[in-house]
Amino acid sequence: MEAKILSGKEVADSVLERLKGRIARCKEQGVTPGLAVVLVGDDPASQVYVRNKRRACESLGILSETILLPADTDQKTLNALIDKLNADPRFHGVLVQMPLPKHLDEFEITLRILPEKDVDGFHPENVGRLILGKEAFLPCTPAGVMEMLRYYDIGTSGKHVVVVGRSNIVGKPMVNLMYQRLPGANATVTVCHTGTKDITEHTLQADILIVAAGVPEMITADMVKKGAVIIDVGMNRIPDAAKKSGTRLVGDVAFDEVKDKSTAITPVPGGVGLMTIAMLMQNTVKAAEEQLNRKKWQ
Ligand code: GUN
Repeated sequence: MEAKILSGKEVADSVLERLKGRIARCKEQGVTPGLAVVLVGDDPASQVYVRNKRRACESLGILSETILLPADTDQKTLNALIDKLNADPRFHGVLVQMPLPKHLDEFEITLRILPEKDVDGFHPENVGRLILGKEAFLPCTPAGVMEMLRYYDIGTSGKHVVVVGRSNIVGKPMVNLMYQRLPGANATVTVCHTGTKDITEHTLQADILIVAAGVPEMITADMVKKGAVIIDVGMNRIPDAAKKSGTRLVGDVAFDEVKDKSTAITPVPGGVGLMTIAMLMQNTVKAAEEQLNRKKWQ
């Protein structure tokens, strides 16, 4: 069976193309959508993500400011910066790159960013709204997965979706989106995690398998039902002596062997990763439009 390779680039490009008109309309009304990104410390992966976010903003004409703070920044200083960015009308979105150094309280920061500027969708108000099926900022990676499935016309209604991973950033919101009584969702959902006794027993039941476990190539061909759709959210750097950098990026799915059993699969790189940034751009434009129209959500 020849699996369809689901291109994150193609879907992300279509999302970004749609945003251009919306950004132009904001500018006609005198407002340039703006995003502030805060990075604490010098984690190399986070540095790459933050740089990619800035580049995406620049290529769309979204105002972006990256604020780099040393790893030993204290909570009070970070809190004060968030308060300043919350109050700055140039920024419609405020994002603090996770993970933070251990001495900082991520939840305190999540609570401090105004819900209407929370383009990550991490604030409990947005998380609660998502679960209740109300309008909200949706976390970018799960929203990107939903967008990819919609784009490729992969139905979810009545399907069995199995999510591997229960992180606050991907697994939990993914589960909570998938069972909503909405077009592009309405699935039956199972969630597997480190406490699951026999993961294979569940993954074999999946019509759509979404893996966000952070374990390199943990999903092998024997764990997948023939004809399943595979969404790999993993981004793991593993040693590879054949590469100049000495490392290689792999997902949570053993792509080469799983591909032949699936009808459609996302590659790593080139899959879901590109969607995360596209959805962040979409959330930033949405934030600007809502602040421009002073729209209050119902
Ligand atoms: N770290 C990994 N993914 C994300 C994300 O989507 N947003 C933020 N703020 N940090 C992250």
